[in-house]
Amino acid sequence: MAQNHLMASHCMTITLILMSTLVCQSKLLTDSLYHELLSLPIAGDLHIDPESISEASVDYGLIVREIPAAVLRPSYPKDIATLVAFAYNESAIPLTISARGCGHSVRGQAMAHDGVVVDMTSLGNKTTVSWSQSLGHYVDVGGQQLWIDVLEETLKHGVAPVSWTDYLYLTVGGTLSNAGISGETFRYGPQISNVYEMDVITGTGHFLTCSPHKNPKLFYSVLGGLGQFGIITRARIALAPASKRVKWVRMIYSDFSAFMMDQERLISRHEREQDESLDYVEGQLLMRRNSDSWISFFSLSDQPRLLSLVTEHELLYCIEVAKYYDERTQSTVDKDLEMILKDLSHVPEFMFEKDVGYVDFLNRVRAEELVLREQGLWNVPHPWLNLFVPKSRITDFNTGVFQNIVLRKNITTGPVLIYPMNNDKWDDRMSAVIPDEDVFYTVGFLHSSGFGDWQEFDLQNKEVLLFCKANGIKVKQYLPHYSTEREWMQHFGPKWRIFQENKSQFDPKILLSPGQNIFNHN
Ligand SMILES: Cc1cc2nc3c(=O)[nH]c(=O)nc-3n(C[C@H](O)[C@H](O)[C@H](O)COP(=O)(O)OP(=O)(O)OC[C@H]3O[C@@H](n4cnc5c(N)ncnc54)[C@H](O)[C@@H]3O)c2cc1C
Ligand SMILES: *[C@@H]1O[C@H](CO)[C@@H](O)[C@H](O)[C@H]1NC(C)=O
Ligand SMILES: *[C@@H]1O[C@H](CO)[C@@H](O)[C@H](O)[C@H]1NC(C)=O
Ligand SMILES: *[C@@H]1O[C@H](CO)[C@@H](O)[C@H](O)[C@H]1NC(C)=O
Ligand SMILES: *[C@@H]1O[C@H](CO)[C@@H](O)[C@H](O)[C@H]1NC(C)=O
Repeated sequence: MAQNHLMASHCMTITLILMSTLVCQSKLLTDSLYHELLSLPIAGDLHIDPESISEASVDYGLIVREIPAAVLRPSYPKDIATLVAFAYNESAIPLTISARGCGHSVRGQAMAHDGVVVDMTSLGNKTTVSWSQSLGHYVDVGGQQLWIDVLEETLKHGVAPVSWTDYLYLTVGGTLSNAGISGETFRYGPQISNVYEMDVITGTGHFLTCSPHKNPKLFYSVLGGLGQFGIITRARIALAPASKRVKWVRMIYSDFSAFMMDQERLISRHEREQDESLDYVEGQLLMRRNSDSWISFFSLSDQPRLLSLVTEHELLYCIEVAKYYDERTQSTVDKDLEMILKDLSHVPEFMFEKDVGYVDFLNRVRAEELVLREQGLWNVPHPWLNLFVPKSRITDFNTGVFQNIVLRKNITTGPVLIYPMNNDKWDDRMSAVIPDEDVFYTVGFLHSSGFGDWQEFDLQNKEVLLFCKANGIKVKQYLPHYSTEREWMQHFGPKWRIFQENKSQFDPKILLSPGQNIFNHN
């Protein structure tokens, strides 16, 4: 293909998308960039057609839009190294590069304005399950792989990872760049706590294997590192024998302190070290306004009394737990569960139990996705806010945020998650940032904006953050989104200096994941 042709189609895309007259002003610059890129051995994997460009300029949030110069669909990991080495060593024009898993970010974190987006999923599947004396079973997977595929492959060997996310159509590299949290985190730690080794392409174009013993600085920086230090092309992940089925229980509370005390008891050290402990603990806020997001769990015959309870109390809290079992534990699971759940203070007669397959449980959000897609409610703006709230202030958070902001505004659609985790299952050497208390809660406002009007949710999010700030509640954002360096410094706190130092070592030219807006301010 002639270069002029490529140039023309690129400008056309941008004009179509932005309807802007400024677009081709940087033509000279872009022209010479293309000239350089097309002389690389990876030229055949670079795409600048309108469809590729527009796919890479949106994400699940549908809030931010950044137009890249090109999309790389690598055939092999070394193609990515070629691109990064070129950007680092040779390119006359600063060229940023962003790995993109599925683009399930909500604030443009996987985008690259005028840069190259690397569509990781073009690398395909490669899953190898192994065993060693020291590690037991583990799996080597590509950073581009979806967790659902990792699950299906490992199950063939009777094993599976122990720490999950609620939704499995996320990539390994994408969740390890954040933390990867779900109801298993209290017991097994986040996904980043279950990695033995990684292959990473750093911002200087070097291909390095890292682990706690080999290039440890890179290893700890990359985990929770928001894509700032390198591109993960392989991860070695811990496995354990897989279960077959799941007892899945929800209990309803009208009293926040009873809810909180029971949730904390269920994740406590004492409880979790029992062999018969729970495998999963989460929770949700139930309101009439967001009942679409929670009612379908309950049977048609239970739904009326739930709706009448939530109307009476306005705000209910739900503890959701699961216990996994197999043939070996089948005969004792009910008794064990009864022991664990006895003496809890939920509303009497408001405990609901299901028995489902292990994969059906882990993949539960997929079923919801398919329903929402059918209704045209999946590809809509998602102004999400995810927070880690220290346990010592969760009661103040309940009063100030749930009761005084969320209930009063009465706009919340989508689930509001709330569940506690144990600090000692996280590794402070990693880049992920959490509150400095033994127990902290994750609170996720998973807003979904059906009519494209996401701004009112954003205003609510700002009000929540302002309330926390004004009242000295030291929350940390998960999947963080900030626009100024000062906010990032506050986010990282004492880790900021280390984060910055390691950035200058592994990505000195500030090429990687510019969409996080940590070092590249527009
Ligand atoms: C429906 C839904 C449910 C979710 N549930 C959970 C949940 O339960 N728990 C949870 O923890 N998260 C959850 N998430 C958030 C999810 O973890 C993030 O969206 C995360 O970014 C993973 O998405 P992704 O793989 O598409 O990555 P992307 O959004 O494509 O990328 C995320 C960031 O990581 C970088 N990156 C991507 N791949 C690599 C790589 N191989 N190497 C280095 N950097 C890379 C990107 O440049 C970007 O900065 C959910 C998201 C959705 C949409
Ligand atoms: C990866 O493997 C899974 C099966 O484990 C398969 O369903 C999926 O389509 C594969 N994906 C690609 C991109 O080949
Ligand atoms: C960059 O260039 C220097 C000097 O020419 C060379 O030593 C180095 O290996 C190159 N780095 C990469 C990643 O290609
Ligand atoms: C909350 O909003 C819903 C939908 O707009 C409305 O039907 C309901 O009456 C509102 N509730 C309160 C308490 O204002
Ligand atoms: C880089 O990270 C490591 C581990 O997270 C940390 O010990 C170190 O101080 C950081 N900075 C530098 C310059 O090594």
